[in-house]
Amino acid sequence: MQPATTPNISAELRRRVETARRVLVLTGAGVSAESGVPTFRGGGNSAVWKGLPFDVISSGAMLERNLPAVWEWFDYRRDVLRALAPNAAHEAIASWQERFADLTLVTQNVDGLHQRAGSRNVVELHGNIWRARCTVCRLVHEVPSEGERPEACDECGNELRPDVVLFGEMLPPGAFEFALERAARCEMCFVIGTSGLVYPAASLPEVAQSSGAFVCEINPERTALSSMCDEVVVGKAGEVLPGI
Ligand code: OAD
Repeated sequence: MQPATTPNISAELRRRVETARRVLVLTGAGVSAESGVPTFRGGGNSAVWKGLPFDVISSGAMLERNLPAVWEWFDYRRDVLRALAPNAAHEAIASWQERFADLTLVTQNVDGLHQRAGSRNVVELHGNIWRARCTVCRLVHEVPSEGERPEACDECGNELRPDVVLFGEMLPPGAFEFALERAARCEMCFVIGTSGLVYPAASLPEVAQSSGAFVCEINPERTALSSMCDEVVVGKAGEVLPGI
């Protein structure tokens, strides 16, 4: 499918894309925006849930205080997602697996849309909304897209929680370290649809650049990372990516 508008891409970026072998892609909520998934910042109706800002309802502190309320918020988000599908941005990124010899996709998204578009080996820094994990033994359970989610751990019978990173919590062991290692040896880094405000994810483009990579941002708005990028393509991911 041709992009709706021809993105304004420099000759330098085209040359880099043609020759790059090791490519790191960091995505955020903006890559799913055109699927209808609300972003966290910059508007959208997911920023507040029953009067609670998303960083309150989606926090480790709330999990300690009121696990059912946290589940209610994630059940709602899964309900919204059920009706949605990957968009042209997810599909373009999935096609890059065939295009670049060594592609690493690192996402902050928990929606699973990259995988549904066909991306494999996605590094999920913030977990996945379609999984639950035991609060005691940490066994991971799939949450089916249809029907009831599991209530208790199959192994030890204790309570389950969403297998996502909440505010105030650590990232899953190994995921960031793996992404960091890939960032430090990539030749090209794309930063797509993220405000670049949440660390340590936002440090990956900086690591890539200081290791010599060309860093390109794709976002309709300027972000906290724009000024450090080698190129900023202003536009929607679903319109820009198919043209790269
Ligand atoms: P944000 O909601 O902070 O930022 C979304 C970004 O997407 C903004 O910069 C928008 O301008 C951009 N955007 C909107 N529509 C777009 C489009 N069609 N194409 C490209 N970009 C578009 O989301 P994240 O940066 O992902 O963490 O937020 C990072 C983390 O903060 C999330 O993973 C989540 C949240 O707290 C946790 O839940 C742990």
